[in-house]
Formats: sequence, structure tokens, C-alpha cells
Amino acid sequence: MQIKKVGVLGCGLMGSGIAQVSAVAGYDVTVLEQEQKFLDKGFAGIDKSLAKFAEKGTLKEPVEKVRGRLKGVTTPQALADCDIIVEAIIENVEVKKKMFSELDTLIKKEAIFASNTSSISITEVAASTRRPDRFVGLHFFNPVPLMKLVEVVRTIATADDVYESAYAFAKKLGKVPVRTSDKPGFIVNRLLVPYMLDAIRAYEEGVGSIPDIDNAMKLGCGYPMGPFTLLDFVGLDTTYYITQVMFEEFRERRFASPPLLKRLVMAGWYGRKSGKGFYDYADPNNPVPGKY
Ligand code: CAA
Ligand code: NAD
Repeated sequence: MQIKKVGVLGCGLMGSGIAQVSAVAGYDVTVLEQEQKFLDKGFAGIDKSLAKFAEKGTLKEPVEKVRGRLKGVTTPQALADCDIIVEAIIENVEVKKKMFSELDTLIKKEAIFASNTSSISITEVAASTRRPDRFVGLHFFNPVPLMKLVEVVRTIATADDVYESAYAFAKKLGKVPVRTSDKPGFIVNRLLVPYMLDAIRAYEEGVGSIPDIDNAMKLGCGYPMGPFTLLDFVGLDTTYYITQVMFEEFRERRFASPPLLKRLVMAGWYGRKSGKGFYDYADPNNPVPGKY
């Protein structure tokens, strides 16, 4: 099927990035949020990112033309004629199921539904709609405008043509898609999440300080960010929700939340997006590591 109009659910870290790359690729994009203030925050991030690309001369069109294809809304009816919906709201299965079952009645029946979930079963969310055959996972990576990978997730119910359309859509966004199936964490988070949680456990056990563990993994392994910088970047709330889903599925300690992660989340310290996590970002150019 031909995809022309894209609907994005959520304008947070991921939704704003998915909306941006879709508009840059030439699609008309409508983004749904709960309240205007979240749209304002997300669109401010898009403007900043587009300005950086324009400055580097890597945008093929003027920023205003790309921006002209992006619309923010707070009522789901505005998504009715979209050809694909990419969901990037909170990592909570009940909230995602409720959202998709409501949209199922509003959005044209040929449209493809996709979830950007990090860990939740796509099959379970798809089963809350009457179109499980038209449902896939499209798992983007943070920051979406820079990260090339998209995991394209097939469930046991996904129709072949729908899967291929979603795969082709990821390619049209300039991304490199990989094929994977609906197992918790897919490829990347299956490997990445235990690594990040092990870093927290190492810190809890006194193996090293937060900056020393970060530097060790950057300089010793050539990773672009150390694990604590990455955790703060992903969002500690999101990481904590991911651990709950993955531990529930596998019942293995390597997927369980270390106590410190839970406590940071309970304190409302979600990382970079809330101004504090493993580091304090009062001065974003000079993050100060916490001593927990
Ligand atoms: N839009 C446009 N440009 C951006 C940008 C954005 N959102 N973010 C950064 N840039 C630009 C910067 O301005 C900078 O430009 P200059 O070269 O002109 O200075 C350039 O990109 C490089 O940025 P930085 O110098 O700030 O930092 P960097 O070299 O470390 O690169 C990075 C940034 C690409 C994010 C890199 O640090 C990186 O790859 N980090 C790891 C990210 C990662 O692992 N993501 C996956 C997270 S897990 C996930 O997403 C899945 C899940 O389900 C949880
Ligand atoms: P976020 O907290 O930055 O943004 C979520 C947004 O969804 C918020 O702006 C919130 O207002 C909005 N929202 C919540 N409920 C909503 C509803 N019912 N209707 C409309 N909007 C709603 O979170 P995020 O980091 O962008 O994560 C979103 C999804 O993407 C999650 O499923 C997460 O697991 C996944 N993901 C996150 C990352 C990451 O690195 N942060 C990477 C890949 C995938």
C-alpha cells in the first residue's frame, strides 16, 4: 500500500524524532499528544534539531517547508485518514492497548498500526484491535534523527504485505531496517538492557564511580557514551518500565531493576529529560555525577 500520511502518537523524546524524520522524508505528519504543552516541548526539540541539520547543509529543503508538513493535535479524530500510525507513548501495556483500541474505530481500516515499544509484546497490543494482521513493531533508536537503525518487528499475525510496507517505509525514512520477531526487547534491548543494568549493579557494589564506569566503557570499548550517560539519555522511567516487562517475561536477574534505578525513578529523577538522574544537568554542558 502507498503511505502518504503519517500519524505519530506522543511527542516526547521518540515521537518528536519519528515525526521529524517522517516530515524530512516528505510525508505529511500529524502528531497526537495529551496536551498542547507536550506538543510545544516536542516541536521545540524538532526546531532545534532541524536548525542543526540546516546549519550543516544536510537538509534538502528549507526548514519551513519541512515544518509545513508537521501538525500537532490533541484530538485523535485528526488522525482518521493517516496511512500509518506510529505509536511512541509511555511504555505501559494497558495505556498502549487502550489507545490503539480507541483509534481502531476512528482510523481507516487499511491503515497500518506500528508501535515503537522497547519491550512490550506487539502481539498483545495488536490483539486489542480488529486489525492484528495490519500491526507491526517499528523500533527506532534515540536520538531518532541521528540513529540509523529501525527494528521491524513481525508478530505471528502480521500479514506479509503489511510487514514489507513497514520495512519499505523505514527505508524511505533513510533508516537501515533489520528484521526481527516479537520477543521482548527484540535484538538490541535484549543485549543492551542487561548491560546497562549490570553497570548500575557494578556501581552499587562499589566497582567504580559513575564517571569512572562511564569513561571505562567509552575509552576501553569505544562506546559513544558510557552506560550512565546512556541511561540518563534514554530516560530512567522508560528503562525502569522496560525492566518490569522483560523481567516479567524472562524471570532472570539480568533483566531485573537494581534497587538504585527504582529509587531514582521514585524520586522523579528520570535523567536528562527531568534535569537529574545519574548526573545532575543544572548546567547541561557540564553534568555533575551523583553520589548515591
Ligand atoms: N539533531 C540534530 N543534530 C544533533 C542531534 C539531534 N537530535 N543531537 C546531536 N546532534 C549533532 C550535534 O550538534 C553534533 O554536531 P557537530 O558535529 O556539528 O558538533 C553532532 O550531532 C554530534 O553530537 P555530539 O557532539 O553532541 O555527541 P556525539 O558525537 O557523542 O554524538 C550521539 C551524539 C550520536 C547521540 C552519540 O553519542 C551516540 O551514538 N550515543 C549513543 C546513542 C545510543 O546508544 N542510542 C540508543 C539508545 S537505546 C534505544 O534507543 C532503544 C530503546 O528502546 C531504549
Ligand atoms: P517520553 O516520556 O519522552 O514521551 C512519551 C510521550 O507520550 C509524552 O510526551 C506523553 O505526554 C505522551 N503520551 C503519554 N500518553 C499519551 C496518550 N494517551 N496520548 C498521547 N500522548 C501520550 O517517552 P519516550 O522516550 O519518547 O518513549 C516513548 C516510547 O518509545 C516508549 O514505548 C519507549 O519504550 C519507546 N522507546 C524509547 C526509547 C528511548 O531511548 N527513550 C528508544 C526506543 C523506544
